[in-house]
Amino acid sequence: MESETATASAPGKVILFGEHAVVYGRPAIAVPVQQVRTQAAVETLGESRVEIDAPDVGRRYDLAAAAADDPIAAIIRLTCSHLGVPANGFAVHIQSAIPVARGLGSGAAVSVAVARALARHWGRELARDKLAALAFEVEKLHHGTPSGIDNTVIAFEQPVYFVRGEPIQSFRIARPVMIAIADTGIAAPTKIAVGDVRRAWEQARAHYERIFDAVGEIARDARRSLEQGDLNALGPLMNSNQALLREMGVSSPEIELLVDAAERVGARGAKLSGGGRGGNVIAFVDEGTRERVQEALLRAGARQIIVTEIK
Ligand code: PMV
Repeated sequence: MESETATASAPGKVILFGEHAVVYGRPAIAVPVQQVRTQAAVETLGESRVEIDAPDVGRRYDLAAAAADDPIAAIIRLTCSHLGVPANGFAVHIQSAIPVARGLGSGAAVSVAVARALARHWGRELARDKLAALAFEVEKLHHGTPSGIDNTVIAFEQPVYFVRGEPIQSFRIARPVMIAIADTGIAAPTKIAVGDVRRAWEQARAHYERIFDAVGEIARDARRSLEQGDLNALGPLMNSNQALLREMGVSSPEIELLVDAAERVGARGAKLSGGGRGGNVIAFVDEGTRERVQEALLRAGARQIIVTEIK
């Protein structure tokens, strides 16, 4: 049965450890960010077409007129085909508080929210692994070789220890960890950074494999320290991960400014999160340092800061 209006939502995410190396089979850790979400609503349209309304990106258009690589059109078509229903006769409204191209998973959140809402419109509920798989197909449009970490953490809405191609491993965080997520203000498409790392790896494979191994070790150690509540180890692990990301060539002057500013006023560790080159920096803070770090980040050029507790 079609409902009149069906709604669904999906959270943002940050990668805590292991970005880029995860594309090459090493483990990475990502967590949902509940403060920012994407909402999707699907409503019956008394006409034989599909309308897409995405005011945050200033777009309102027909499915039939969408470009071949349009990610919203893609998730609508994929989901309808999976459900065995016609892609016809409804409107999809999307509203998102997740900034675009900042490493917060906005693309995957749109896919998961739209797929969920569409299924509900047809009186169905999609399992989380199915939602993750549908969103993964769309992630491939954003960049050719996604690891699958974004769509997984966003569809499952829980901390994940992710290894490409393997079933999801969730784990328990023994003590909450507070992080400040600071936006450099620079939109940096993941596709470009991932492509640059690929070219650099092709030129110097042994060197890059060693970097990826070291990042993988960090992700393994970080999981252990999160599971055991040994937060003293976490800050240094973040800093080591940032040093390796710098060596991979995906940091930037703006990122380095924010990382330094956070550390100078007492953050326990800081690193870029996601594809790099811009996007977000995450700083590990606590009640005592939170305000100081926030102020320092803003003075160093952060556009927006989200403080979230990972648990
Ligand atoms: O920029 P984001 O948050 O979508 O993260 C990309 C993470 C990478 O490891 C760089 C790429 C990937 O597919 O895992």
